[in-house]
Amino acid sequence: MNKHRWLGTMFVIAAVCASALAWAAAPKGKPAAAGGDKAAKVQRGEYLVHIMGCGDCHTPGTLYGAPDTDRKLSGSELGWKGPWGISFARNLTPDAETGIGYYSEDEIVQSFRTGMKPNGTPMLPPMPWPNLAAATDEDLHAIAAYLLSVKPVKHAVPENVPPGGSWAGPVIEIPAPPAWDAPRTPAADSH
Ligand code: HEC
Repeated sequence: MNKHRWLGTMFVIAAVCASALAWAAAPKGKPAAAGGDKAAKVQRGEYLVHIMGCGDCHTPGTLYGAPDTDRKLSGSELGWKGPWGISFARNLTPDAETGIGYYSEDEIVQSFRTGMKPNGTPMLPPMPWPNLAAATDEDLHAIAAYLLSVKPVKHAVPENVPPGGSWAGPVIEIPAPPAWDAPRTPAADSH
């Protein structure tokens, strides 16, 4: 290959690479109307919260077959009792004092990833955070954006009770497991 042909070939290769890079960097899909992306994100979050059953525990009445849509996701006073003590499904509406309105979308996403509540304490059972931790960033942001968009409801759920403590209200107690459900130890597995 003479010098000029070689330079010409390199130029063509460079041009192809540059246009491929420009194509890759260009925004995909049609440009959304102002606010359209945000609306679609919140709608996706609403869908995920619905199909993942967050309201089962977090919307009053749901476990009794009558979800109160007017107080959607505002937390419950039904206690969940187990070796962790007694926990209560918290107020997920954006009320700044009693809900999660004080936190940013990023802080809420981080809590799903790590299993630590946005205030830095562990998310006790039966909050199914390990399932959420496996979701994509996009889905977790959609969930957090949706939670921050619902009607704020002022409702302070009871404080968690440490193991051994008591609570005057109703509790669902997770009993000692039957043999089939008992956590397996490595020794039991090896037989
Ligand atoms: C089986 C019941 C149950 C389900 C289902 C459930 N949660 Fe929870 N959630 C809880 C409980 C109980 C707590 C409180 C844990 C604690 O205080 O340590 C909690 C806490 C939280 C918190 C922390 C709030 C705060 O004030 O720090 C967030 C956020 C949350 N849940 C979001 C969700 C989302 C989103 C879903 C659906 C994907 C969901 N939860 C499904 C029971 C549940």
